Amino acid sequence: MNCSLLSCRMGFHLLLFLILSSIHGILAQDLAEVTIVVKGATTIAETRDDFICATIDWWPPEKCDYQQCPWGNSSILNLDLSHPLLAKAIQAFKPLRIRIGGSLQDKVVYGVGNLSSSCLPFRKIAGGLFGFSKGCLPVARWDEVNNLFSKTGASVTFGLNALYGRNNTQNGAWVGAWDPTNACDFIKYTISKGYQVDSWEFGNELSGNGVGASVSAQQYGKDLINIKALIDELYGKSNDKPLIVAPGGFYDQQWFTKFLQVSGPDVVNVVTHHIYNLGPGNDPNLVKTILNPQQLSQISQTFSSLEDTIQQNGPWASAWVGESGGAYNSGGRLVSDTFVNSFWYLDQLGMSSMYNTKTYCRQTLIGGNYGLLNTTTFAPNPDYYSALLWHQLMGKGVLAVDGDSSQFLRAYAHCSKGREGMTLLLINFSNVTQFRITVQNSMNIDLHVKENAIYRDSSFKRGLKRAVQWVGRKASDEEELREEYHLTPKDGYIQSQTMVLNGIPLELTEDGDIPTLEPVLVDVKSPISIAPLSIAFAVLPNFEAQACGRIESNYQLHIHKLH
Ligand SMILES: *[C@@H]1O[C@H](CO)[C@@H](O)[C@H](O)[C@H]1NC(C)=O
Ligand SMILES: *[C@@H]1O[C@H](CO)[C@@H](O)[C@H](O)[C@H]1NC(C)=O
Ligand SMILES: *[C@@H]1O[C@H](CO)[C@@H](O)[C@H](O)[C@H]1NC(C)=O
Ligand SMILES: *[C@@H]1O[C@H](CO)[C@@H](O)[C@H](O)[C@H]1NC(C)=O
Ligand SMILES: *[C@@H]1O[C@H](CO)[C@@H](O)[C@H](O)[C@H]1NC(C)=O
Ligand SMILES: *[C@@H]1O[C@H](CO)[C@@H](O)[C@H](O)[C@H]1NC(C)=O
Repeated sequence: MNCSLLSCRMGFHLLLFLILSSIHGILAQDLAEVTIVVKGATTIAETRDDFICATIDWWPPEKCDYQQCPWGNSSILNLDLSHPLLAKAIQAFKPLRIRIGGSLQDKVVYGVGNLSSSCLPFRKIAGGLFGFSKGCLPVARWDEVNNLFSKTGASVTFGLNALYGRNNTQNGAWVGAWDPTNACDFIKYTISKGYQVDSWEFGNELSGNGVGASVSAQQYGKDLINIKALIDELYGKSNDKPLIVAPGGFYDQQWFTKFLQVSGPDVVNVVTHHIYNLGPGNDPNLVKTILNPQQLSQISQTFSSLEDTIQQNGPWASAWVGESGGAYNSGGRLVSDTFVNSFWYLDQLGMSSMYNTKTYCRQTLIGGNYGLLNTTTFAPNPDYYSALLWHQLMGKGVLAVDGDSSQFLRAYAHCSKGREGMTLLLINFSNVTQFRITVQNSMNIDLHVKENAIYRDSSFKRGLKRAVQWVGRKASDEEELREEYHLTPKDGYIQSQTMVLNGIPLELTEDGDIPTLEPVLVDVKSPISIAPLSIAFAVLPNFEAQACGRIESNYQLHIHKLH
């Protein structure tokens, strides 16, 4: 970077354009003009380094939905922690956030301290909450789990049992104060061993009417004050005091408002909510729902409303998606674990980050039909690679994307990760035409005039070739190649369990390693082609986004050979 050029640009309004327009002639009959404007002067939101998160649940092998039992040995209690692919899959992210939690978390006791009962696993019982008895996490197992996490550099969020000591009444409402004894012993033990749990979450899906069980926002808020005092006391003056994360449930405006008001300033650090916006896992229309951008957009209201609720009632807290699996009841077999699911998943990552979601926890890392890893072979499913590409390419800074894009095109722009420029995620939901996109880049031009020019042009459906002029040269014009990562399903079968990157099926290497994700290099001045029903990341190195320098500071640090 040439410093004199840089300083000479300071003080200008910097507006960065990306013009996407189709090439006449080549695909005349399917021509659609799409204009996208990416604003590089300011970020609209910022994510965490460990934005990508995945969950490990408690479900035992006997957990079944729709006559299938898709969990196998994927519970935190019985997962094969020594499976080499598990460590490799986690390690590839450096760091992957892992959230331990799920429906049965509020029935878990910890085998530490003066536990009155013996430490036994979950058993199927009639009439039990979610059909199971309480279960116990043995201390030796907790040691093994932490051994894996420390070896793989995971950031860990642990969901505590928030029903402990309360009594069930009618309608699933649990009353009385939370009994902190067992959790306190557990946290004490965790600290004594030096295990890095960087965030403690309180309860699972107890908000609003709850799923199976609920707690009033008033009572829950009071309990949080206690847990905060407990954490402060146990961790003392430690510099890495963990975050307090709550409530890990479905967003309900009244309930969320109330619990933030009752718990008060600086108690809750992170507000987590759960998302299952695709309906039940056995819905025969699941694929159609995933490929329907209008339906996928509906959940943006939840993100927006949560953002408002936090701003108004808990501005000291940030928002995470604590658990999101798409289709509920263990996901959709041969849907959630196939290529098509990435249309939902990557769209979610893009959408949620625009609303200042700092971390997005996918249900699950392994287990159910929605695992990033195959429950039996531990090999990555398509969404694993989507998550990894996002993690390797998309930086923390989120840039605004405007324009009158087709309803079938989604475009999300972030600062590039660990290097200069901007990275686009493009999702084409349409199923017929191949598309060619022209990219132009302009800067130092007057904001209003140019913006209007573009909108007018596009609304008149004229060619956009002249909407933007070059104004000056950028220091990094020497870099003339852009990286592209095109994702398609194997054999064009949208429900394939194999994802294809730039024409090459993603499979484990002969040594059983996760393959390196290689881009194709394309002349920056040539158009981007996006096939129907496909997804692409495009890394634009020349795209000067003023806002990004401040955020993506470690430019050299990155890139991403896995091994
Ligand atoms: C789970 O592990 C147990 C004990 O190792 C084994 O007996 C059982 O077959 C495994 N179940 C599955 C579904 O893999
Ligand atoms: C267990 O209970 C005994 C007697 O009540 C008490 O002295 C001891 O400190 C307790 N231990 C723990 C780890 O809480
Ligand atoms: C729960 O019910 C038991 C038995 O009725 C009672 O002893 C206990 O105090 C209750 N606990 C709470 C927190 O209300
Ligand atoms: C796991 O992988 C096996 C072997 O490739 C495959 O047959 C199976 O469908 C996969 N399981 C799931 C749940 O996707
Ligand atoms: C494309 O999608 C439309 C609407 O879902 C459907 O009616 C049509 O059959 C699809 N065409 C192809 C070639 O798949
Ligand atoms: C995606 O493909 C469809 C046709 O299937 C086309 O109409 C649409 O404009 C394309 N969008 C982009 C940007 O590739």
